[in-house]
Amino acid sequence: MTERYSKPSMVRVGNPLYAKHGSSAQGYPLIRESIEGVAVKDLVKAHDSPLFVFSERVMREKYRQAYDAVRSVYPNVRFGWSYKTNYLSAVCRVFHQEGALAEVVSRFEYEKARRLGVPGNQIIFNGPHKPMDALRRAVREGSLINADHFGEMEDLEAIGKELKRPVKIGVRVNLNAGIYPIWSRFGFNLENGQAAAAVRCIVNSKTLKLAGVHCHLGTFILDSSAYGRAAAKLSEFIRAAESMTGRPIEYLDLGGGIPSRSHLKGVYQPPEIAVPGVEVYAAEMGAKLKWLLSRKSAPRLYLENGRHLVDEAGYLITSVSADKLLPDGRRAYVLDAGVNLLYTSTWYKFKIELDRQTGGVMEPSILLGPLCMNIDVVEEAVLLPRLSRGQCLVLSPVGAYNVVQWMQFIQYRPAVVMIRESGEPFVMRRAETLADVTACESDLPDDERGA
Ligand SMILES: Cc1ncc(COP(=O)(O)O)c(C=O)c1O
Repeated sequence: MTERYSKPSMVRVGNPLYAKHGSSAQGYPLIRESIEGVAVKDLVKAHDSPLFVFSERVMREKYRQAYDAVRSVYPNVRFGWSYKTNYLSAVCRVFHQEGALAEVVSRFEYEKARRLGVPGNQIIFNGPHKPMDALRRAVREGSLINADHFGEMEDLEAIGKELKRPVKIGVRVNLNAGIYPIWSRFGFNLENGQAAAAVRCIVNSKTLKLAGVHCHLGTFILDSSAYGRAAAKLSEFIRAAESMTGRPIEYLDLGGGIPSRSHLKGVYQPPEIAVPGVEVYAAEMGAKLKWLLSRKSAPRLYLENGRHLVDEAGYLITSVSADKLLPDGRRAYVLDAGVNLLYTSTWYKFKIELDRQTGGVMEPSILLGPLCMNIDVVEEAVLLPRLSRGQCLVLSPVGAYNVVQWMQFIQYRPAVVMIRESGEPFVMRRAETLADVTACESDLPDDERGA
């Protein structure tokens, strides 16, 4: 695939120390007064700060763009929405409305998908730990179960015998596609023959039937050609597996991993340059899977992308709570949101925008969170004009993995709002209260409490 040539252009950036006019292409104070047409100050007035805000429009657009890209190279494709990436009900609903199945990796996520009305046979069940009762339910409900290890295959065999029915399964395969580290702790390794051994077990079983092959290479994979290499290796594996079982494979699941336009720490180039378009990934897969399309009925291709579809739809509004000068001379701002809400800040640098123009000298600033913990740093160094208390900052993209991996630690978790395509804000999750946090606790009985 050749890179598309883009004409060089010059950008006027102004003097960073006296940036009067706010945003520029170079990271001097970027201004975002609104999200999807709704003023940041109005969102904070109505829902408080901090506040997660999602754009329904962006979610749907990302989904359609990715789906069209893959469908154009492999028409028999379905997406499975990766629940772990963001399992807020309204987010899942948007992707299910777009046509996605549910891709789940635990009993909790399975139950959540069922509660949202997803039928069992529209659920892809992955993950290294599937408790027996969850597996039994998934077998009964006809979901697509991708076995992770030999013990799980034994469990599935036992369930099949108990229910007196054959059990169709997929095998999860890990392989060397040239990206490191290899996620070799999940599934059966291809290169050392373990994946072939798993197929032999299925051949020798009266109960298990091989329906599919699954492979999730990892996350935020910048090297699109890894998908081509994986698809080529899996094609060989499918040929071998089909000749061993005597049955055509029903599906190939290539997992997720396509990056969002997020800035991975340590990557020098900005995401607009470093992150290839989804069409490039689709082309890599499509080229190596063409042979499957020539079959009378081509196996279904599943993809389970999470971050690529939702990350850029999410923003976090946070406010300055304190302004300090540290002994080493750094300007420090304490925000009302920190690593408690931004799990991904460990790996990604967020775009930081101000909700209003502020003049003045730009100075290197450190953004601290509200936790009484030294490690609570949102951004080590960013050039900002002097901010006043109460000033709002908008951090993005934060739509993937944050509102699921956030911690209820020291602080309550805030509300999450979706700006509907109509422009109306919709509260997807209200802010937590003391009653929510203590709902699962029991205090000691009155007579044991003491004074
Ligand atoms: C099995 C599986 N599928 C899909 C995903 C989604 O990955 P991503 O958000 O990188 O697309 C993950 C996440 O690690 C996963 O483990």
